[in-house]
Amino acid sequence: MIIETENDVTPSVLKVMAAAPDARIREIQEAFVKHIHAFAREVRLTEREWEYGIGMLNGIGKKTTDTHNEGILFSDCLGLSTLVCLMNNGAGGSTETAAALLGPFWRMHSPKTEHGGSIVRSPTPGPALFTTCRVVDDKKNPVANAEVDVWHASTTGMYENQDPEQADHNLRGKFFTDSNGRFSFRTILPAGYPIPIDGPAGEMVLYQKREPWRPAHLHFLIHKPGFKTLVTQVFVAGARYIDCDVVFGVTKALIGDYRKHESGAPPAADVKAPWYTLDYTFHVEPGESDLPQPPIK
Ligand code: BEZ
Ligand code: FE
Repeated sequence: MIIETENDVTPSVLKVMAAAPDARIREIQEAFVKHIHAFAREVRLTEREWEYGIGMLNGIGKKTTDTHNEGILFSDCLGLSTLVCLMNNGAGGSTETAAALLGPFWRMHSPKTEHGGSIVRSPTPGPALFTTCRVVDDKKNPVANAEVDVWHASTTGMYENQDPEQADHNLRGKFFTDSNGRFSFRTILPAGYPIPIDGPAGEMVLYQKREPWRPAHLHFLIHKPGFKTLVTQVFVAGARYIDCDVVFGVTKALIGDYRKHESGAPPAADVKAPWYTLDYTFHVEPGESDLPQPPIK
């Protein structure tokens, strides 16, 4: 088809794409073209604006390395990651869900850690936190032998892979639930932190006059064949930025009861008051137990 006017472009593109063999991929590609063309029409995108947008995409690529995933960060800051998460969990988006976005910092192969063990692997300031967690299925039965990855940022607001001061895998661990579906570990109380702002995602957030901060949270990834892999976060109730998380990750179901203890016998000899405890139950749904691609290595 020879293009004569602007109106011929979208049908021309859709026509040549029609032979893509996989129906689902074809559906996604066609919808993408329709929406991106409609977007350009709606805002009457200029050549210089188009150039700027391409520069931004290239910037996302250039910024991405083995240890930094700017693409995920950009999607997170647009709310796209949370939207996709909520559409695909909680019975296909129809009920409240225990899931949250993965974020850019999950690493595969966290060190296996015994029940009740510590994930503090190099000196890390902050009040001690003792967690006791449970994994149950949709009938509230315990889920034994589920693999649970835990990761979180230090009080300086950095994940270990961002911070040469922290040991490899500091504040990361892998646990297996016991016959009662339980796992527990010791760490430090998580603190809020700003997302990296030295790339296109940060540039966008700052331009929009948003706070680039996440409220304090722990991350969990729970995996067992027969269950939909649960990727989630548990937030500290009342934490700063809880109602304006820059990546839209906070939902009501994910606000945890991190209890402060100022007196009484501490849970370990080296613990000084105040220390914190968290009891939390994770609900997993039946489904596909596939794993996400690790955003970083
Ligand atoms: C995180 O919680 O690790 C995270 C999520 C989205 C963007 C940046 C960090
Ligand atoms: Fe995080």
